[in-house]
Amino acid sequence: MILVAGATGKLGRLITQQLIQRGEPVRVLVRQDPGDELGHLVEVAYGDLKDPDSLQMACEGVDTVITTANSTARGGTDTIDSVDLAGNRNLIDAAAAAHVRRFLFISSLGADPDSPMPLLRAKGLTERHLAGTDMAWTSLQPNVYMDLLLMAVVGGPALQGAPVTLVGEGRRRHSFITMSDVATYTVAALHSRAAENQTLRLGGPEPLSWRDAVAAFERHLGRPIDVVTVPVGEPVPAMPDFIVQLLTALEMYDSPLDMSELAETYGVRGTSLAEFLSGAVPVSPVV
Ligand SMILES: NC(=O)c1ccc[n+]([C@@H]2O[C@H](COP(=O)([O-])OP(=O)(O)OC[C@H]3O[C@@H](n4cnc5c(N)ncnc54)[C@H](OP(=O)(O)O)[C@@H]3O)[C@@H](O)[C@H]2O)c1
Repeated sequence: MILVAGATGKLGRLITQQLIQRGEPVRVLVRQDPGDELGHLVEVAYGDLKDPDSLQMACEGVDTVITTANSTARGGTDTIDSVDLAGNRNLIDAAAAAHVRRFLFISSLGADPDSPMPLLRAKGLTERHLAGTDMAWTSLQPNVYMDLLLMAVVGGPALQGAPVTLVGEGRRRHSFITMSDVATYTVAALHSRAAENQTLRLGGPEPLSWRDAVAAFERHLGRPIDVVTVPVGEPVPAMPDFIVQLLTALEMYDSPLDMSELAETYGVRGTSLAEFLSGAVPVSPVV
């Protein structure tokens, strides 16, 4: 039995769907009735990462745990400290106590117990805690998702015919990856001995700068897109703070990843930005 924590979220749902397609027995850890097809095709265990007792029952009879759960799009009592740090620690401890054999953790590129960024610090501390157990672990460290940040920064304005706003010059290169590819790597790693007790750094097939991404959208939409740049550290009008912070951080380094070896090992044909756009972004007149 595979327990998925985070199955009501975007990546957790993709992973759960792939597991169902492969005929794997799946139990999802949820806080509310997941409804729809998810609730009918899998076992459901009710629990909250902040409630250790609920996790003990959820882990009973489980061979493998996969967690994508995180607090970033939640709020209230779900915080980096309560969910990403203490909550994942609770889940790891419950899994170890239930003699779970295998544990896959969706971390993040840059995870580091000493990171000044709270989420990356929590990811790094979780990785360290997991590695200290007897379970065979895999930490998957994806680079930035195409589906979320690229769509928010470039796709949203481009589809509305508005200028794209970049923090800095936008020439740093990062291996953006689709969530679908992250799900495929995760499911492939599940049964791979080679992935046990390993950290897998995941990126897409091509490193891209924000300027490259704008050019790809221009080719896809068949029209030019204006770009406005705001120097690092200056206020960015009408952009949410967390996106400004992310763009600022991404202006500090390049993160190209050579994925050729991992892609071959795990049988993943990485999705390029052009392929992603042709599947996800309809070409329509400016709205
Ligand atoms: N965005 C990026 O570019 C990026 C890059 C690298 C790595 N990542 C990582 O990728 C992963 C996938 O994120 P996502 O976008 O799929 O997340 P998401 O859509 O925001 O989903 C969050 C999931 O976590 C669950 N959750 C939150 N608090 C919980 C709690 N206290 N107890 C139980 N479940 C709880 C949510 O359940 P409810 O529905 O009940 O709230 C939901 O299923 C995350 O680990 C993220 O850190 C993201």
